[in-house]
Amino acid sequence: MQIDAITLFPDMFASIARFGISQRALDLGLWGFHARNPRDFTVDNYHRVDDRPYGGGPGMVMLIEPLQQALAAARQRQQQAGVANSHVVYLSPQGRGLTHAKAVELSQRPGLILLCGRYEGIDERLIQSQVDEEVSIGDYVLSGGELLTMVLMDAVIRLLPWCAQRYSVGL
Ligand SMILES: C[S@@+](CC[C@H](N)C(=O)[O-])C[C@H]1O[C@@H](n2cnc3c(N)ncnc32)[C@H](O)[C@@H]1O
Repeated sequence: MQIDAITLFPDMFASIARFGISQRALDLGLWGFHARNPRDFTVDNYHRVDDRPYGGGPGMVMLIEPLQQALAAARQRQQQAGVANSHVVYLSPQGRGLTHAKAVELSQRPGLILLCGRYEGIDERLIQSQVDEEVSIGDYVLSGGELLTMVLMDAVIRLLPWCAQRYSVGL
């Protein structure tokens, strides 16, 4: 399985890539991982990644262009790793709740691209055009999607066959 996270804070993902069963599985090549920062795809001097929402609304959202390019780069990496169709998930308070059944379903996909929102979320046009599903981790709101994305990753990775055999995975 290949996983890419699109995040303004890639270093946070050391928590899942460098510790425990997820690290062992990563070292064994059971999953591949890349955390990609939309800021690296900005072209202005300030490396700006936020803007007012298209069509109006409160606060700021993540700009669409850097996210589109980060997504394209993630799809390309996964294609090179043999994934024909990457499944794009946006962690969002508006999404359907993460359940064990959802974790099982996601663990059977060859490629996941996980979008971590910040500010008031991501540009709605990106959700409409590129996101396959929105998943919520609970009925509360955090300041960003990174911790929630790692919760989803942990729930999925422990279900991969090697992990499941060693840790007698159940509900
Ligand atoms: C401050 S929140 C955005 C809140 C915004 N008012 C909304 O309702 O989407 C910033 C980001 O954190 C993530 N997030 C926060 N709470 C979440 C939850 N319960 N489930 C999934 N993602 C969440 C999302 O990626 C969201 O874009």
